[in-house]
Amino acid sequence: MRASAVTLAAGLFAASAVSAENYLGFNSGATLPDNSAKFEKDFEAEFRTAQNLVNAPGTFNAVRLYTNIQAYSEGAPIEAFQAAMKTNTKILLGVWASGVQNIDKELAALKTAVNTYGKKFTDLVIGISIGSEDLYRISQTGLINDPEGVGAGPDVIVKFIGDFKKAFANTALSSIPVGHVDTWDVWANGTNKPVIDAVDFLGFDTYPYYENGKGNSIDNAPNLFDRAYKATEAAAGGKPIWVTETGWPATGPNWDLAVPSVPNAKQYWDEIGCAKLFNKVPTFWYNLRDSNPANKMQFAITKNLSTTPLFDLTCPKVVPSSTSSAATPSQTSSGATSPSGSGSNSNTGSGSGSSSGTPTGGSNTGSGSATQGSGTPIPTGAAAGVGRISGAVYGALAVVAGGFALL
Ligand SMILES: *[C@@H]1O[C@H](CO)[C@@H](O)[C@H](O)[C@H]1NC(C)=O
Ligand SMILES: *[C@@H]1O[C@H](CO)[C@@H](O)[C@H](O)[C@H]1NC(C)=O
Repeated sequence: MRASAVTLAAGLFAASAVSAENYLGFNSGATLPDNSAKFEKDFEAEFRTAQNLVNAPGTFNAVRLYTNIQAYSEGAPIEAFQAAMKTNTKILLGVWASGVQNIDKELAALKTAVNTYGKKFTDLVIGISIGSEDLYRISQTGLINDPEGVGAGPDVIVKFIGDFKKAFANTALSSIPVGHVDTWDVWANGTNKPVIDAVDFLGFDTYPYYENGKGNSIDNAPNLFDRAYKATEAAAGGKPIWVTETGWPATGPNWDLAVPSVPNAKQYWDEIGCAKLFNKVPTFWYNLRDSNPANKMQFAITKNLSTTPLFDLTCPKVVPSSTSSAATPSQTSSGATSPSGSGSNSNTGSGSGSSSGTPTGGSNTGSGSATQGSGTPIPTGAAAGVGRISGAVYGALAVVAGGFALL
């Protein structure tokens, strides 16, 4: 009994130690759209644009990475670290956890960075995610959308979390929040509860755009978002939720009722970002820049890293009436803010479908193959919508599967 009380207290402390700040950032993969490696100058250009976006509702000075390893290197630290130090960008570290026997190379690259850069680097680290959508890729929806997808089970993720904690126990990173990033339906799946028990925060990815068969028009996006968030919150047991990926494409093919367009991307920014997320919960928008040319849906909010985005980032003073069903985010006891809304829409599906973005890897292997990590969402509609997946989308999936096959 005593032990469990102590464990509980420790768990609460860990939860309250995070969620102090509502970070604003974007996701950043390890490679450029042509699959070449991003180097320091590429990351630096990205981070400078992010911080200087015209009319941004805050300073986007945080970044979420997918891997610690520089693309195509044998295990050098990713050059995003240097760019982050130059631009004072906060870093949510990522460890690629799928298709690997262990995360030793990831941890070794991070150790090198800690030893080489010291406090200048470690002071910028706001947390680490062990894995990205690994559980989604082995879920029923994930396997329907990509039967070749390589993921990892909850036992593997829990083990890797332990490996990180052990390796960094006596370092400047020993007290950073340790989380895992996955899609909302994964968090709601009880089989994955051991991962929730093991983390300090839940990284939450959701794309109402991809929720085919569930009324995924832009006007219904707030309801779908709220439902996904609430399902995750209900499973989280009070642990903080960080919104690690969400966004709406500006161009690309329609997906069931979802239409990519600049006005729709702006509406999503206003009704989800402004109304529910920015400065309310830690948020990593998807995305500043596109990475995967095979994905016909383009999520970038700006072209060529211009600081003038495709649409005006100014948040509306008055929440548009179409979001009137969405309530104001409320502070939870853990200190995390929770977007909430009535969600009183007709979407009463089982929730087994997934809104998801599946970034391509950040993986690295002994074979010396490339570190990926382009961070491009892969359409993951429910089975009902699979018939609507275009050839282009299958092409994108094949590219990803092919990437993993190399590993
Ligand atoms: C629930 O999670 C487990 C473990 O990750 C997975 O094997 C299973 O397929 C998931 N269930 C659904 C409905 O996706
Ligand atoms: C972006 O850069 C490419 C290549 O330099 C150029 O062809 C294109 O016109 C640019 N687009 C914009 C919107 O500036």
